Amino acid sequence: MTLHDFVPAANQGDDPAVYEIENEAIDPEGVLWAALRQAADWRRKVLVDLGCGSGYWLQKYSEAEKTIGIEPDERLLDAARGRTRRAEVFHGSAEHIPLADASVDVVHARFAYFFPSESFDPSAGLEEVARVLRPGGRLVVIDNDHVLGEFAALLQASAPAAAQGRGSYPSDWWREKGARTAAVMSGWQFDSRSDLERVLHLEFPDDVAEDWLNSHPDRLGLSYGYLLHIWTKP
Ligand SMILES: C[S@@+](CC[C@H](N)C(=O)[O-])C[C@H]1O[C@@H](n2cnc3c(N)ncnc32)[C@H](O)[C@@H]1O
Repeated sequence: MTLHDFVPAANQGDDPAVYEIENEAIDPEGVLWAALRQAADWRRKVLVDLGCGSGYWLQKYSEAEKTIGIEPDERLLDAARGRTRRAEVFHGSAEHIPLADASVDVVHARFAYFFPSESFDPSAGLEEVARVLRPGGRLVVIDNDHVLGEFAALLQASAPAAAQGRGSYPSDWWREKGARTAAVMSGWQFDSRSDLERVLHLEFPDDVAEDWLNSHPDRLGLSYGYLLHIWTKP
């Protein structure tokens, strides 16, 4: 199946090994994880990880009745399928989810596809998510906070990322769709300085990464704000 509407992720798609280090550093105290569970509990439910990449998070949903990964990038499918035998992984995208109508309780989209901006309208993906969700089911979009936390300051200093999250556009877009947005402050914590350096260079232009590293010579982590956009199917 060719998915014409999918854009490969530069970070995950181009360097899955460094993206794995990034995922391991996320949310060391479980603040984001607790907020996700509060937004839509997946215990004994059917959960879809939409744009699951190489499947890092699939292994974490052990309390779900069923975990399903959807990923459009064929380069990442084998890794996602090998992650855990408890999850099924399908080739698909936000706009083409190969699942039956009203068959899912919770959808997580973690830094995947749902980046509304003046030049991109993800309504087609929201319609497709609405099709597969049961009434009362929830989509939780995990997005970067471009205002609060040290990660947000790096985004602001980085031209391509700053353009993606300009102003209140994403939160306004979700509010118009009937979603609510919750801010969560968490962090990144790495085991070594070289891991932090590699991930900063994956995510940001070299000059932005180097400026931050030079002005924080002793750090192994940073504060990281998230926005959760939470949409409930009527
Ligand atoms: C930054 S990566 C995040 C991967 C994974 N969610 C994680 O947190 O480890 C973004 C993912 O979104 C996927 N993606 C790109 N276009 C998509 C679409 N139209 N629908 C669903 N996922 C998409 C990419 O292939 C990639 O796996």
